[in-house]
Amino acid sequence: MTMTSTSKGDTAASAPLSSATEAALPSSSQALNSPGAAHIRSFVHRRGHITQGQRDALERLLDLWSIPYEPHKLDLAAAFGRQAPTILEIGFGMGETTEKIAMSRPDDNFLGVEVFNAGVGSMLKRIEASQLQNVRIIQHDAVEVVRDMIAPDTLDGVHVYFPDPWPKKRHHKRRLIQPPFVALLASRVKPGGYVHCATDWEQYAQQMLEVLGNDPLLRNAADGYAPRPEFRPQTKFEARGLRLGHGVWDLMFKRVG
Ligand SMILES: C[S@@+](CC[C@H](N)C(=O)[O-])C[C@H]1O[C@@H](n2cnc3c(N)ncnc32)[C@H](O)[C@@H]1O
Repeated sequence: MTMTSTSKGDTAASAPLSSATEAALPSSSQALNSPGAAHIRSFVHRRGHITQGQRDALERLLDLWSIPYEPHKLDLAAAFGRQAPTILEIGFGMGETTEKIAMSRPDDNFLGVEVFNAGVGSMLKRIEASQLQNVRIIQHDAVEVVRDMIAPDTLDGVHVYFPDPWPKKRHHKRRLIQPPFVALLASRVKPGGYVHCATDWEQYAQQMLEVLGNDPLLRNAADGYAPRPEFRPQTKFEARGLRLGHGVWDLMFKRVG
């Protein structure tokens, strides 16, 4: 799956950001300077296109809804202004799914982590358009966010939807769902909480099943792959893939006590 879609009504343009917004946004060079940033990244830095609407949203709304990366634990209740079950979403892309889930689950908090400006701009637009109060954004490498900002046993759930499959063998090392990161992620989930992944890449689905299945803190809530839960809407990419005869695999694991 590639990130080529733009939000409705936006014209794609390579619009430069103002210097103030550029300064507020994390760059991958900053990410490289964060503590212990020696791991292989699951994304590559590319400037990509950003629409005028996404740029405007970054300028106006970033400060309101985003939390800067910092190498210490985040107080989730303070970040959301309430105590509520908190779901971490890794790589929300353009935020289409996040918006729908956050609207349908107003009693849960959603912490979305994404690295690319266009995606963050798009998510900010959705927060404003749908008047979402239960979404916060961290624009940074999710591996470092989970490691540094999320305290153990605090998350009620984790969503990882259609992570980059890195299909070439020499790039498999960039895949997010690998044993060390899954062990870290599982440690951040409360006992009874869940890790939900979905992919349209069969070989990555098999890797996910094996890696999640081998983690001692996780138990498969299904017999093998899980049916798509009602709360996860079908994305446009997914619907197109299904029409073309591609499969989609959901995985639902629970954190054990
Ligand atoms: C293929 S897209 C899927 C987007 C979305 N979840 C969906 O289903 O449409 C994967 C997304 O993960 C993001 N991503 C990859 N590695 C990441 C990381 N380490 N931290 C945060 N975001 C990451 C990418 O920027 C990209 O937007």
